[in-house]
Amino acid sequence: MKLLALASLPAMALSLTAPGSPITAQFQVGPNNDPTDTSGCHGEITMLTYANGMNVIKWDLQNCGRKGYHGFHIHSVADFSDGCGSTGGHFNPTSEEHGGTKDQIRHVGDIPQIYVDENGNAKGISEDSKAILNGEFSVVGKPLVIHEGQDDEGEGGEECSKSNGCAGARIACGTVKLVGRQ
Ligand code: CU
Ligand code: ZN
Repeated sequence: MKLLALASLPAMALSLTAPGSPITAQFQVGPNNDPTDTSGCHGEITMLTYANGMNVIKWDLQNCGRKGYHGFHIHSVADFSDGCGSTGGHFNPTSEEHGGTKDQIRHVGDIPQIYVDENGNAKGISEDSKAILNGEFSVVGKPLVIHEGQDDEGEGGEECSKSNGCAGARIACGTVKLVGRQ
């Protein structure tokens, strides 16, 4: 399996100084969509979509398991009847194969991975221009899912690589919810 593309590393260049007040989503995630279940991965996600079309993603999560990268996606349906398992595949309104955030060929829901530290915590910021809070393919109302494993971003050569990045079990989820400019 190939290593992750550089685009996923925390040192990626960010254009976080876009002008104008963003559309803002803020919501909690947890095991089986229950952020009060602190026995597993839980915490808060913020998304800010700016007028230039960039979406900034911030996360502050605890108890997320193994140190390393974890798959982080927008999935297709906010159905939690079977916990995070019933949220469907990656949000893919353009019928593409799975990929990394910086790839041309990717699902809209393929946002950058998160890095979990040795204490199980993850806090960071990334950006993306496809999974945004407005427009034809808005992710508002869609489920965000965190995985147990690393996402191979379509490069792993496994059968699952081109569909979901082989990121493994779904350890937390929640629904992208607007808090401003609704
Ligand atoms: Cu996923
Ligand atoms: Zn995907």
